[in-house]
Amino acid sequence: YEVTWSASAAEKGGYDHFMLKEIHEQPKAISDTLTGRISEDGTKVVFDEVQFPAGFVKDIDRIHILACGTSWHAGMVGKHAIEKLTRIPVDCEIASEYRYRDPIVSKNTLMVVITQSGETADTLAALRQAKEQGTRVLAITNVVGSSAAREADDVIFTWAGPEISVASTKAYTTQLTALYLFAGWLAQERESVGASEVPAILTALRDMPANAEKVLETAPAIQAFAKEWSSREHAFFIGRGLDYAVSLEGSLKLKEISYMHAEAYAAGELKHGTLALIVEDIPVIALVTQDDLYEKTLSNIQEVKARDAFVLALAWSGDQQIAKSVDQVIHIPKVNPFLAPILAVIPLQLLAYYASVARGNDVDNPRNLAKSVTVE
Ligand code: AGP
Repeated sequence: YEVTWSASAAEKGGYDHFMLKEIHEQPKAISDTLTGRISEDGTKVVFDEVQFPAGFVKDIDRIHILACGTSWHAGMVGKHAIEKLTRIPVDCEIASEYRYRDPIVSKNTLMVVITQSGETADTLAALRQAKEQGTRVLAITNVVGSSAAREADDVIFTWAGPEISVASTKAYTTQLTALYLFAGWLAQERESVGASEVPAILTALRDMPANAEKVLETAPAIQAFAKEWSSREHAFFIGRGLDYAVSLEGSLKLKEISYMHAEAYAAGELKHGTLALIVEDIPVIALVTQDDLYEKTLSNIQEVKARDAFVLALAWSGDQQIAKSVDQVIHIPKVNPFLAPILAVIPLQLLAYYASVARGNDVDNPRNLAKSVTVE
């Protein structure tokens, strides 16, 4: 069903759409999600709201992250973060798939459900199945009092504030913030090797709201690119590692509100078939924030450039090399590549937004979609 409603300019904070308002609220939403969760001396994560049974945190031997849509994309970043800092194996799955495959769990499995609304039917079904199996469930949600918040054993709230637009933006970046904090907390509680990296990560997280503000200043360049390319029917997002995880989110944003067909692809996988679709002038958005994968991603960019694709790269400020290999570059402030997704997603949100506006779509109410999918 489509709920049609109109809101006043005042309700949109003076922005043309709730989505643009919520994109611009991200610095504050990230800051609010960090508040109270970093120790006074800035070196430790504090999660009073997580009360695991004695010994459980050290006994966890596998984590299952379950979610849908954008929240699943956040989980893909969370998987990287938790595995890197704690070396606990993490599976991140689409909830509607997980619940039908008779998942393998033990008393030392932790399930993490990520859901902005806390009411997504597929995610709740997976949560309830886990509870029946005696698996401990942690929910990361944006809605106090939601079903997920009430039914999970522990809850980490994202303090993004109400997210009205169907396309999720500030929920995603605050979910990432919560996941990075949770990964750091696990590492410290388990005295993992990765615990030594946590103080620097916390310092970088505290700088994130200011860096997000700087990224929002790229909006005019993104708007120009979106207007020029919004008539296209197809686009590709490519990246490796965390850049691939963010590509998934960029692709969904563009699809769901501009109605352009978009596909996210692991850059190293293109040559195994999909490269056949890369033809002259097709827009390819390439994320190159992962320094350790830079040369490999550059070679994939050259692969698509050799087929005359139009390549827009998302790269660190100060990267002077990338411009030689692509058609256009959007620079974002350099941060620890481990935390790149929080910033890299913002230009992709803006790209989808401006492409949707250029196409005259109902940005906040895209066709066929609902804000909270409470049906299976
Ligand atoms: C995101 O832009 C979409 N609107 C959609 O994929 C959403 O993320 C998904 O339905 C999950 O919603 P939830 O986070 O409320 O569970």
